[in-house]
Amino acid sequence: MANPIERREGVLFCENVELETIAREAGTPVYVYSAGGIRARYREYAAGLEGMDARVCYAVKANGNLSVLRLLAAEGAGFDIVSGGELDRVLRAGGDPAKVVFAGVGKTREEIEFALETGIAAFNCESEAEIALIDALAGRMGKRASAAVRVNPDVNPETHPYISTGLREHKFGIDIHGVEEVYERARGLRNVSLEGVACHIGSQLLDASPLLEAAQKMVELAVRLRARGFAIRHLDLGGGLGVPYKPGDARPDVGAFLRALRGIVVGTGLRLWLEPGRSIVAEAGVLLARVLYRKSNGDKEFIVVDASMTELIRPALYGAHHEIVPLRKSRLPGTVTADVVGPVCETGDFLARGRELPQLMPGDFVAVMTAGAYGWVASSNYNARPRPAEVLVDGTGWGVARKRETYEDLVRGEA
Ligand code: LLP
Repeated sequence: MANPIERREGVLFCENVELETIAREAGTPVYVYSAGGIRARYREYAAGLEGMDARVCYAVKANGNLSVLRLLAAEGAGFDIVSGGELDRVLRAGGDPAKVVFAGVGKTREEIEFALETGIAAFNCESEAEIALIDALAGRMGKRASAAVRVNPDVNPETHPYISTGLREHKFGIDIHGVEEVYERARGLRNVSLEGVACHIGSQLLDASPLLEAAQKMVELAVRLRARGFAIRHLDLGGGLGVPYKPGDARPDVGAFLRALRGIVVGTGLRLWLEPGRSIVAEAGVLLARVLYRKSNGDKEFIVVDASMTELIRPALYGAHHEIVPLRKSRLPGTVTADVVGPVCETGDFLARGRELPQLMPGDFVAVMTAGAYGWVASSNYNARPRPAEVLVDGTGWGVARKRETYEDLVRGEA
């Protein structure tokens, strides 16, 4: 599937469903995901890894909707989780716990026990104290845990500072310089086997070369660890491949990246695990919104829509760019340069700033593009806004994958 979101004769479609039909029937704001688009991206990874001892562990944090997880589980995907809540979702969606890897700097005792109980593939450990706790809990439960140390390979991914993770100054992982001593100190533990090496250097990488540089360093580390007698079996390289958000952005070629990676890993006897999130789901999703008002303050134009930072926080948090396009060609000629803002009481509540757009008028629908990753999952109820519905399109059919929240949902659990 070339592009699951496509304009045909002026009208925006998701696969074979007109997006305006969904906006009218499901209401706005609403997230819409293309099942075909997600499958196609997953299959690109699967095809690129064919014949290798490799696994794609989709990063649940990018989009954890059960319907999305279910369709990836059906493709045979494994999963990368960062919390007990994500593990619960994977199990509910029929994911295989034996293909789950668990990352994160702050795993709690309860989360570790839950993961041991279900029998996940491996923990990616981020500190020596965590390794010791896993050992103790596994011992008490009569289990043996498989683990890797999440290494900080000190490679600069050249991405946004908030989503760059592989440098020494970041809270993630353990510095590659000296990590062998961490393995040594854990050597005697009876209930945890350090049988992998793991890293994740950052997200939204439009150039794959830092990932390849990290892979090279990690393979060398695995070789050094084996020389010390550790039975290192797998290399988990994390996620990170980016997607084009702006018209001029390069699109990393998954196939070319995997061919280069194959060259580094094949022959080492290491199993390769990847944890892509964004590159599988981002482009298969849009956020639909309706224009509420137009207003101008002096020479500044505003287009007020019914979606906001509570539905999509990326512009407010990272200054991220998302294309905004009308669902139908505007009836009016010409363009306007405007801020697209939501109803939330924050100056930072914008979806776009100083953007040249068609003459959008109240009642018009727009799509915020490339919103399938880190969209709904990072939404909030700030300003007592119910979180939006999620819709899954598959071919000519579509269905509500998650209902819009109600006011009742917002007060559930309050005394
Ligand atoms: N593995 C680990 C250990 C991670 O921390 C992440 C993302 C991934 C895999 C998946 O990375 P991806 O393939 O999606 O780049 N909210 C931010 C992105 C945060 C990414 C956090 N970690 C955003 O909206 O851009």
